[in-house]
Amino acid sequence: MSAKRVLSGIQPTSDSFHLGNYLGAVKQWVDLQDGHDAFYCIVDLHALTGEIEPALLRKRTLASAAQLISLGISPEKSTLFVQSQVPQHNQLGWLMECMAGFGEASRMTQFKDKSAKGGSDSARVGLFTYPMLQAADILLYQANLVPVGEDQRQHIELTRDLAGRFNTRFGQTFTIPENFILKTAAKIQDLQDPSAKMSKSSGSAAGVLELMDTPESNAKKIKSAATDAGREVKFDEKEKPGISNLLTIHSALSGKTIPALEAEFDGKGYGDFKGAVAEVVVEYFRPIRAKAIDLLSDEKHLLDILHDGATKARVVASQTLEKAYENLGIVK
Ligand code: TRP
Repeated sequence: MSAKRVLSGIQPTSDSFHLGNYLGAVKQWVDLQDGHDAFYCIVDLHALTGEIEPALLRKRTLASAAQLISLGISPEKSTLFVQSQVPQHNQLGWLMECMAGFGEASRMTQFKDKSAKGGSDSARVGLFTYPMLQAADILLYQANLVPVGEDQRQHIELTRDLAGRFNTRFGQTFTIPENFILKTAAKIQDLQDPSAKMSKSSGSAAGVLELMDTPESNAKKIKSAATDAGREVKFDEKEKPGISNLLTIHSALSGKTIPALEAEFDGKGYGDFKGAVAEVVVEYFRPIRAKAIDLLSDEKHLLDILHDGATKARVVASQTLEKAYENLGIVK
């Protein structure tokens, strides 16, 4: 049996990934490269459903690519590409829009949440059709596994439904991806508000550890992280959410277990502990950030890598699209 196909995507919506993105998804993408045929896509067309700032979109697309590579996505092992450079995504996206029911699409919670935020009058059609483009991203590559977090479960379910419907009605065309959602390897919370997930959209800047941020800034954020009553370094999410979060972060990056860390900091105060967490985070990020900066300093080289990825992606994508067109009776 040949290796399972993996596909995932990330929106280029920020200058820097944060620790939650990394541990929640990208680190697992890196692991999946071995033993799988992996495709990783920077979904710039999906990013157009939010505020569009041309200079930022360009910068963030390149920054995302540089960070993915520096975090360990290898352009030799995987196919790393930018969605808009493979026009078959838009083409299959239309077919998926023609398969999806209006009611079905209206039930997507991400659409409901995002459109509710800005008021339904300002929500754009692209936000509504977003899940059908995502289905196309996945189905074009006949992906078996789609490593995404729990928040994407409904979109994967929709993708499975659309693929099944198409296959049943028009003949076998698409691989139906497995029901596979990434386990939260480590639950990383906001440093300032440890009751909330670490996230750029909701949290304060001081609560989010950014990969591309300076070591000094990240160290400072950790040292001023919210702590809890008492002075013992113990994992207790209820009573000590702040310290528990810092223990999780240390453990995820240092590889030490939480009990081992509790023992190590037994009798020491929060200050010592935070200093140690800061050191672990800063040293972990340091070479990754340096590599990303280096990649960004040679834009031509970075673009070459992405163009190579898109060339490889187009080979697979065009085969699938051709089959879908043929099964639909579209004249060649
Ligand atoms: N919707 C995904 C997110 O917000 C991003 C995405 C777009 C994606 N297309 C994809 C993820 C295809 C996996 C596969 O995280």
